[in-house]
Amino acid sequence: MPEGVEQEDPKQQAETARKAFEQEFERFARFRPDSESDGQASSGDVVSVETKLNAAEATLRELGEVRLRHTGKKSALASVKKLIGRVASEDRATFGQLVQQIEVEIVSRINEVEASLKSSIADLRTETGRIDVTLPGRRPRQGHLHPITIMRQKIEDIFVSLGYAIEDDREIETDFYNFTALNIPENHPARDPLDTFYTTEGFALRSQTSTVQIHAMQRRQAPLRMIAPGRVFRRDTPDATHNPMFYQVEGLCVDRNITMAHLKGTLTEFVHRLVGPETRTRFRPSYFPFTEPSAEVDYSCFKCNGAGCRICKQSGWIELGGSGMVHPNVLRVVGIDPEEYSGFAFGFGIDRMSALMYKLDDIRLLFENDVRFLEQFN
Ligand code: DAH
Repeated sequence: MPEGVEQEDPKQQAETARKAFEQEFERFARFRPDSESDGQASSGDVVSVETKLNAAEATLRELGEVRLRHTGKKSALASVKKLIGRVASEDRATFGQLVQQIEVEIVSRINEVEASLKSSIADLRTETGRIDVTLPGRRPRQGHLHPITIMRQKIEDIFVSLGYAIEDDREIETDFYNFTALNIPENHPARDPLDTFYTTEGFALRSQTSTVQIHAMQRRQAPLRMIAPGRVFRRDTPDATHNPMFYQVEGLCVDRNITMAHLKGTLTEFVHRLVGPETRTRFRPSYFPFTEPSAEVDYSCFKCNGAGCRICKQSGWIELGGSGMVHPNVLRVVGIDPEEYSGFAFGFGIDRMSALMYKLDDIRLLFENDVRFLEQFN
């Protein structure tokens, strides 16, 4: 036996390690499951439950430190264990048992408190997550219509009351519907792939709602009155007044003896109802392949009533869109006899109209889906 070992008295050292543990462990004893105040969630007071939870979590962390200090590699217990091999062989068994007993005691007491703390923490967590049925409820946020939808519905209401049906049709079209049937010649710039989104061979995203004129007349023949609101697509670079996807509303009326006077009367009535009864209209000569004659329609500015302001760019007029008398070729292509029937048609930009009405200086705002912007229209 090495010298000095006797002096150190291993048994004494083991007892010292046990005492040191007991002293430090004392304050954890109250967390044992059978002790009185064990941190169990019993109070309904949310604040105190939270305080208890924080305290229990802190205690659990501290307990981990105690475990390390008293059973870890650098603990007094670990040093005592090393002595087992050094004590006299006749005392070794007794000493070994003592050390083992101390270790089992330390570990099991720590485990016991740890288990109790963990279960308290679980209970306290449940308690803090409990629903307080007396709290006032959160009001569900009510949605509202998009400004383009609001405008579309206003337009639809007016035309429905004038006896028009609402047509909805496809957004992917063949050349025939997008151009040929609308009397648009082969070499027309609108057919340029730089202006139109071509998809699969022979198909394109429609660049105007005028395509619906053809579908509607093929389906229903004459007489008919319809409007067709919908999305159209053009290869424009987005800027304050352009977006590659936008909304139009097409109108078509075909019957016997329809004249330009009907067109003017209908559109004048439309702006009276949409903008106000004092609104005036004017028709400027124009050209569209599918109408003859053709006209651009303007209405007097809703803001300044014609005096000139920022909205109408000082002109007193706001452009509504294109219109005209349906070209005989368009009627013929769908099997309607232009000698018997005539008609008028028009096409407006819905988003442009809502941008004006809501005084937006950038049309792209309508398509960015920024709730902070859209929320202003309910
Ligand atoms: N389709 C034309 C455009 O997109 C608008 C238009 C003009 C439609 C005259 C019509 C019309 O029905 O008669 O620019």
